[in-house]
This record gives sequence, C-alpha cells and structure tokens, in this order.
Amino acid sequence: MDKILVLDFGGQYNQLIARRVRAAHVFAEIKPYNTISPEDVKASGYRGIIFTGGPHSVYAPDAPRCEKELLSLDIPILGICYGHQLLAFLAGGEIAPAKDGSEYGKTEVRLQKSVLFDGVPENTVCWMSHTDAVQCLPKGFHAIADTAQCAVAAMADDARKLYGVQFHPEVTHTVCGERILQNFLFDVCGCSADWQMQNVAQQLIAQYQKDLAGKKVLLALSGGVDSSVAAVLLQKAIGENLICVFVDHGLLRKGEGDFVERTFRDQFGVRLVRVNAEDWFLLSLRGVTDPEQKRKIIGEAFIRVFEKEATALGQIDVLAQGTIYPDVIESGKGDAAVIKSHHNVGGLPARMGFSQVIEPLRDLFKDEVRKIGEALGLPRELVWRQPFPGPGLGVRILGEITKEKLTLLREADAIFRETVDALEQKPSQYFAVLTESRSVGVMGDARTYGYTVVLRAVTTDDFMTAAWTRLPYEALEKASSRITNEVRGITRVVFDITSKPPATVEWE
Ligand code: XMP
Repeated sequence: MDKILVLDFGGQYNQLIARRVRAAHVFAEIKPYNTISPEDVKASGYRGIIFTGGPHSVYAPDAPRCEKELLSLDIPILGICYGHQLLAFLAGGEIAPAKDGSEYGKTEVRLQKSVLFDGVPENTVCWMSHTDAVQCLPKGFHAIADTAQCAVAAMADDARKLYGVQFHPEVTHTVCGERILQNFLFDVCGCSADWQMQNVAQQLIAQYQKDLAGKKVLLALSGGVDSSVAAVLLQKAIGENLICVFVDHGLLRKGEGDFVERTFRDQFGVRLVRVNAEDWFLLSLRGVTDPEQKRKIIGEAFIRVFEKEATALGQIDVLAQGTIYPDVIESGKGDAAVIKSHHNVGGLPARMGFSQVIEPLRDLFKDEVRKIGEALGLPRELVWRQPFPGPGLGVRILGEITKEKLTLLREADAIFRETVDALEQKPSQYFAVLTESRSVGVMGDARTYGYTVVLRAVTTDDFMTAAWTRLPYEALEKASSRITNEVRGITRVVFDITSKPPATVEWE
C-alpha cells in the first residue's frame, strides 16, 4: 500500500492534511518533524512527503527544522506554508518577512503551468496565512504562482520533484486545493488510490485472525462508535475468543442498554457480558454534588466493575481498546500506546497487567472508523450516533444523582431527541440536562412544583468550539409541550443559547 509522510511542524491544519490525503484514498501518517530520521523515511518506503505549516519563522532560534538530507532521498516533497519556506531554506533559498506585511485570508492567485496545477484555472482563489515569504529562490527552483503581495506563492524543482506552496491547499477556502493535493499524490508521487475502507477492514480481520489465533481477547464495549466498530471487527476475526464487557452503569439514555445488547449479541453474535451495575454506581454517587468528584467516582467504579468481571472470566491474554488516530497524534509520541480516557477504560492495562494491548483502530480517523462500521454492516443509528460522554447522564444531572432524577431526565431527553431526529437538518449533538432548580407551574387547576430541564443543541466540526444551534421554534415548542405534559415532575423547559466558548458543551 502506498503511503505519504506528513511531517508535522506544528501547524493547526496538520490533521486536515492527512485527512485530505486519505480522502483521496492514499494512506497518510503524521509524524512530528523530529521523530524520524532520513534513513527511517527511506526505509519506510514513503511515496511522498508533505511538510506542514507551523507558527515559526525558519530563522528563529527555536524553529523546528528537519534534516536537509530529506531533500536528497529521491522522494517527492510538497511544502505547505511554513513547510514551503523551510523547503526553500533547506535548499539554499532566502526567507524574509513579506514586504507588505502579513497576507491573510482568501487571496487571488495566478498559477503558471505546472504538474501541480494540472486541471486548475490560471486565476483562482487560495487561503493564505503567513508573515514570512520566500524572497530568493533556491537553485533549481522556479516560481509557479504569485499573488499581489507574494512573488513566490508556489515554487517547483521538477527535476528533483520538490514543490512548495505558500497557501493552504488542505482548507476548503482554497478553491482547487483538493485537486492540487491530488496532482501531487498521483502525478508527482505516482501513488495508487488503494486506501479503501472495505480493504482496510478485510486486512485488519485477516491480520488479527493470524496474530490472535488461540488467544482470549477482552474489550470494554461502551456502545460508542469506536468500541462498537472494534468489537465487530475483532468478532469477525476471532469469533468466540472475543469477550465484550458492557458495563451498564445506570447512567445510560432511554433504551440504550437494551439496544447495545440486541445489536451485538443478537445481530452480530458477539459474546457479550452485560453487567448491571446501576445500584453499585448510584450507591457510590450518593450525596455527591461536585462535578469533578462525580466524574472521578464514575471512572473509578467503572474500573472496579470491569476488573471484577475480567477476573471472573478467567485467563485473558489481550485487552483490546478503541483508540483512534487523533488520540495517538495528540499523545505527541508517534507510537506510544495511548489509553483513551473517553470511551475506554483509562488506567486498565497498567492496573491489570495485561501482557498485550491491541488497538485495531489506532491508524484511523473518526470518519474512517465510521466507514469501516458501515462496511461491516453496523446499523446506521450506531455508526452515526452523536457523541455521548463516558460518564453518561451523570454529567447531565446537576447536583446529586438519584434514580428519580435519572428517570425524569431519561424521559425528557428521549422526547427532545425524538423531536430533533424528525428535523431535516440535525445539530452535531443534542440532549437534555436536568437542573437543580425547581419552579412553580400550573396544570389543570392545580399548582405544580417541579424541576427545570434545559435543552441543549450544538453545531460543530470538532467539539473544540461549538455554536448553539438555531432550532426551529416549532420543534422547541413541541419538545417543551410534550416534556411538560408527559414527564410528571418537570414543570419548566428552557433552551441553552450559549456557545463554546465561553460555555462547554456539557453542563458539568
Ligand atoms: P465539553 O463539555 O468538554 O464536551 O465541551 C465536548 C465533547 O466531549 C464530550 N464529553 C465527553 N466524552 N467522556 C466522554 O467520552 C467525558 O468525560 C466527556 N466529557 C465531555 C461531550 O459530550 C462533547 O461531545
């Protein structure tokens, strides 16, 4: 399989570069610039290298720089933004602050004939974000694009297959960015488009059939996308030797536990142990109101219950986790085993002394995990489900968590989700929160006194920032009226109009 190295110099769009390459069906790996030597790059068989952007100036004393030898490996290179300047610098060119100051935002660019710009109009729009610029081209290079402010908006040394673009082809504001990246991948590097999720799933299954023959594997199944896809993948590889433990902590949404059990046990024939640990969790949480303490208690109780079940199951050889690629990248160390604290059970391998931990999805982005899920036949509602926090409804009940409050929230949340599900345009995440505040209401002729529920809906790409979703008034009215009519104990419904930042998505 052909692969591309994305050499990371600290730019904010680096994951996006790898995702765009993979969207073109070529495998891309991100490595911090200082973690791989030219010898290793050569030995790894990369078909091309992309130098990413980054916030530095190449002459700064702490500027991240890779070794110059990378340019002589006979592997094509595409430098982007800082990567373009670094490439020019390493090849002997000169960089300096741009004469007219920074160039930022959508910018008209004029392109010359080049293999990189094949099929792209001569005049187009690109996304710029830079202060420095290439002032003096290195030997062997010529400029292949310019803007009003930047004489070397792109450069090429066709003989050595070295290319640089000052703009960002990976962001959608660069109108033909996708085509430019594809030209590099296919016409310059000669890659084949063989990174297809169907094949990846089959390869992983075949590999685990071999590697895990005769071994017993344990997986903590949360019902989230990642652990679900990992479960089905491994089940197809090793069948009965995979045991999934699903801890029902009583903080799940309405019908969720049964749905997970039905899907995995009945539909996929997964060997599933469902642990009903609601009483244990609620007992541990009794009287606790502090959000951080709640999270800690839930995490700790999870580990306890899981350990107990694992011990009861007898000899287990391998622990499987649903770690995905962004977690691996964020760890900053290319190949450290990352224990994802969200969907998985943080701290388990060290505590339980597993001799082997496997992470079948560690090379995959979320959208790729979803494609594999679809290829393996997982139901759409599972593959495309909105995120649900590990501590579950525990972070959506303010104050003490009780069985009564859980019942109220579950019902209100189910009504709200049902209402939003009927809309054509859905937010990225939508749910209900139960507050501690109670207020007076009137029903029939009688006075009522009950809880206030908050409806929350956000739209976001990455959950790092999020905008509150402008839901239609009709949908809000429908949800409000159904909740106050159907859920005894809730007298008031409010809608959260705070974005992130300053708020977070969850209330606790
Ligand atoms: P916040 O509240 O941090 O949420 O803005 C961002 C996204 O992360 C989810 N979230 C969690 N997911 N375990 C999880 O698995 C957690 O402890 C947790 N806390 C927040 C949240 O639902 C949102 O999608």
